[in-house]
Amino acid sequence: MLRVAGPEDLDDLHAFEVRCFRDHPFRRDHVEWILGNDHALTLVQDGTDGFVAVMMLLFEGRSCRVLSIGVARNARRRGIATRLMQAAEALCRERKIGAVRLEVSTRNLAAIELYRGLGYRTDGVLYGYYSWGEDAYSMTKSLAPEPSSRIPPQAQPSSSININ
Ligand SMILES: CC(C)(COP(=O)(O)OP(=O)(O)OC[C@H]1O[C@@H](n2cnc3c(N)ncnc32)[C@H](O)[C@@H]1OP(=O)(O)O)[C@@H](O)C(=O)NCCC(=O)NCCS
Repeated sequence: MLRVAGPEDLDDLHAFEVRCFRDHPFRRDHVEWILGNDHALTLVQDGTDGFVAVMMLLFEGRSCRVLSIGVARNARRRGIATRLMQAAEALCRERKIGAVRLEVSTRNLAAIELYRGLGYRTDGVLYGYYSWGEDAYSMTKSLAPEPSSRIPPQAQPSSSININ
C-alpha cells in the first residue's frame, strides 16, 4: 500500500535517501522543501524497517516531473519501482496531465532500463546536469487517456493508494 508522506516523515525520508542514494542523497533541506511544496507529492511504501520505496513528484502545469524514485536495496527487482511509476501515471491521468518527465544519470543503467521498459523516451542529454558533474538524459512519456482506468484517491497526506 502506498501513502502520501507528510512533514512528520521528514527524518525517515532523509534517512531513506542516505541509505538508497548512498553517494548523492538529497539534502535534508531539499527533502523538507519538497514536503512543503504544494505542487509536489511524495509517495511512500512503509516496511517493517523503514520505507521500502519512495517516489517524489512535482506537478508542473501540464506535465509531472519525477524528482526521485528509490527502492530499498533488499527489495529491488520485484517490480516495486514499476508499480510506483504506474501509480504516478494513474495519478497524472486523473489530473488530466499529459506527460511525465524525468532526468536520469547517463550512468544509471538500472533506472534507464526501468524507464525505457515503461515507455519513456530520451529527448535530450543534459551535460553536467548534476552538481557532481555527471550528465543526465531527459526522458518523457506522453500519457494517452485511459477512459476505464481506476481513479486513485484524493492526494492528501494520510491517504493511501493501493498499487497491488
Ligand atoms: C532503479 C530502481 C528504482 C529500480 O527499482 P526496482 O524496484 O528494483 O525496479 P523493478 O523491479 O520495477 O524493475 C523493472 C525493470 O527495470 C530494469 N532494472 C531494474 N533494476 C535493474 C538493474 N539493476 N539492472 C538492469 N536493469 C534493471 C529491468 O528491466 C527490470 O525488469 P526485470 O526485473 O523484469 O528485468 C532501484 O534500483 C533503485 O532504487 N536504485 C537506486 C536509486 C535510483 O537510482 N533511482 C533512480 C534515479 S532517481
